[in-house]
Amino acid sequence: MIYLDNAATSFPKPDSVYDEMQKCMKEYGANPGRGGHAMSIRASMEVMRVRESLGSFFNIKNPMQICFTKNATEALNIGICGFLKDGDHVITTSMEHNSVIRPIKTLERDRGIEISIIPCNDFGEIDVNDIKKQIKTNTKLIISTFSSNVNGIVMPVTEIGNLARENGLVFLLDASQGAGSFEIDVEKMRIDIMAFPGHKGLMGPQGTGGLYINEELSLLPVLYGGTGSHSEIIYQPEMMPDKMESGTLNTPGIIGLGAGIDYIKSIGIGNVKKKKYELVERLHTGIEELKGIKLYSKNSIDMNSGIVAMNFDDIDSTEISYVLDKVYGIATRAGLHCSLLAHQTFGTVKSGIVRFSVGIFNTNDEIDATINALKEISTSA
Ligand SMILES: Cc1ncc(COP(=O)(O)O)c(C=O)c1O
Repeated sequence: MIYLDNAATSFPKPDSVYDEMQKCMKEYGANPGRGGHAMSIRASMEVMRVRESLGSFFNIKNPMQICFTKNATEALNIGICGFLKDGDHVITTSMEHNSVIRPIKTLERDRGIEISIIPCNDFGEIDVNDIKKQIKTNTKLIISTFSSNVNGIVMPVTEIGNLARENGLVFLLDASQGAGSFEIDVEKMRIDIMAFPGHKGLMGPQGTGGLYINEELSLLPVLYGGTGSHSEIIYQPEMMPDKMESGTLNTPGIIGLGAGIDYIKSIGIGNVKKKKYELVERLHTGIEELKGIKLYSKNSIDMNSGIVAMNFDDIDSTEISYVLDKVYGIATRAGLHCSLLAHQTFGTVKSGIVRFSVGIFNTNDEIDATINALKEISTSA
């Protein structure tokens, strides 16, 4: 199979991810932070090493401000629901995933949160001035994705971070698309809260993700319970990361995530970005030459996190994706990609879009085979 669905989850993972996960389960599969015995202490230390590695990866000064979650959705829910209070106003973009839109729409309906959703242009680009114009006295939070999961467009993250800081607002970044192939520096980009999945560009397994929270902020947890710490108190401990990490951690997953990050560090994030762009460029150029197609993504190393989004005129995206899978063994994703507002922006709510998302293990031969498959589909349609 030619796997071009890396925006959903990366596949395959580096061998070291499988190896380290297995080693964890076989050699030190105890519960971290839950015992004084050697194996529990070893598990805690290995988890801590991954927290520190994430800290250096994203330039987070205090890695204890990172809590592990099961995916980006959980992290976004903690960030959004734990921060916003009744009557607050939040500004976001029309390129957000349901993991942002659904929590804020629910808070709007149930708790009187006010929302402004800033429209983007045909490529999903946003004008930061349009965000600025919406700031009002009760505005507390700006939420933006790093990059769209529909067409890969990269948002002006540093500009948004600066705008938030200048206006005393908190900036929450959804780093689901881009983390692992674009440099993300929470200090330089003035990011206060950041949600990330472990299983996409960071090359970890499914069931992993995390949330960074600036030390100056105090958010309410979404889950309460056992933390392995301060059992003498009846309430949730205030200290991070325990406050946000109730229940047994996904230790093998976290260890796999650590191996994924080590892998990216070993080849260099700049090289990952370059490799993904070479694949995007090849695919984009090949598709551009076909008749009766429409492209929604940009052919740009800095403005595209690794997605080619396209349609054939008058053919539903799910049909194309189905044929690619069944006839050619090519995995893509069609439909609305959990991002209704982005599809409203592109005018593709009815047709959906065929999304090809590349990963570092894809090859030029795979891209050429994909272009040939599309060529055949276009001539037989
Ligand atoms: C932009 C964006 N945000 C959030 C998510 C949710 O990520 P997860 O599946 O890890 O919860 C995704 C997943 O595709 C995404 O692309």
